[in-house]
Amino acid sequence: MSYSRILATGSYLPERVMTNAELESLVDTSDEWIRERTGIERRHIVADGESTCDLAERAARAALESAGVDPAELELIVVGTTTPDKIYPATACRLQARLGAAGCTAFDVQAVCTGFIYALGVADKFIKTGEVKRALVVGADTHSRLLDWSDRQTCILFGDGAGAVVLEAGEEPGIYSTHLHADGRYEDLLYVEGGVPLGGGEIAQGHAYTKMRGNEVFKIAVRTLRRIVTEALDANGMQPSDIDWLIPHQANIRIIEATARKLDIPAERVVVTVAEHGNTSAASVPLALDVAVRDGRVKRGDNILLEAFGGGFTWGSALIRY
Ligand code: UT7
Repeated sequence: MSYSRILATGSYLPERVMTNAELESLVDTSDEWIRERTGIERRHIVADGESTCDLAERAARAALESAGVDPAELELIVVGTTTPDKIYPATACRLQARLGAAGCTAFDVQAVCTGFIYALGVADKFIKTGEVKRALVVGADTHSRLLDWSDRQTCILFGDGAGAVVLEAGEEPGIYSTHLHADGRYEDLLYVEGGVPLGGGEIAQGHAYTKMRGNEVFKIAVRTLRRIVTEALDANGMQPSDIDWLIPHQANIRIIEATARKLDIPAERVVVTVAEHGNTSAASVPLALDVAVRDGRVKRGDNILLEAFGGGFTWGSALIRY
């Protein structure tokens, strides 16, 4: 059996930056409250007319260029997204056409903030079984389009972006293991109404805005992430001290710190981008990975624990050797 190895990473953030100060003029909030309760200072927001596929393409091209891989060599494209450009075709198919990779397997995975981990887990299994040798895995979201800008609980949290990795089959890890979970019973705590209608021709039913019971989501996220990091280590007979980098989903600095404390991983070994990016949903983990690869923190041979938690609920982890 072969393993998947990350050949290279890439990412893209929209140009427009929205600061906490700007949000102060939209809702009853303050820069101080947002920093203290979430760790977020600013986030990037898509321009009118800019789509998830636009962000995904920029991130994918950056990853492919760094990997030295021609898009025509790709045998699989998986895009984790909850904000596809259209109900169909899948964003992965649109991306495939733009990259010039026609013919390969291409599909989206919808697991909200865990979207990239799910996409990575699925692509890893394609490679492990020998079905494909080279894959592109993208996490991309324009979550700002799902925000009610008068709801201070949610509009302060999210940003837009995309991250990508190119995977190749190899004899050694690579990806040691991925662990994917969901519990659909928590739908009421975090959801967006809307989608394919039950009858009639309307596209969205009700307001297609993120609705969240933040404090309850927070507590379950902390509990679940503590469990899942242990699951990933145990599955590989590893200790927290074997991990060089924790690269968590960037939803809230307090959730990140709670997970790092559980693992006893010092802050210097945790990649944190939440201050600059906010919660970019499926893009958050690959964005943070790309930042740490490009600034030289993550090096070849480092052991990295990736984890995420999001709507569904979904949650997952990937333990990898970079
Ligand atoms: O990606 C995965 C999905 N999402 C998450 O992981 C998000 C998880 N949740 C969170 O990050 C946090 O729950 C929030 C940041 C959303 C909220 O922080 P919190 O510490 O859980 O605050 P809270 O909801 O318990 O509210 C505390 C107070 C309330 O006021 P009172 O009732 O104590 O007077 C809120 O009304 O803070 C108030 N509040 C705000 N104040 C200023 C809530 N949002 C804001 C705001 N600005 N934006």
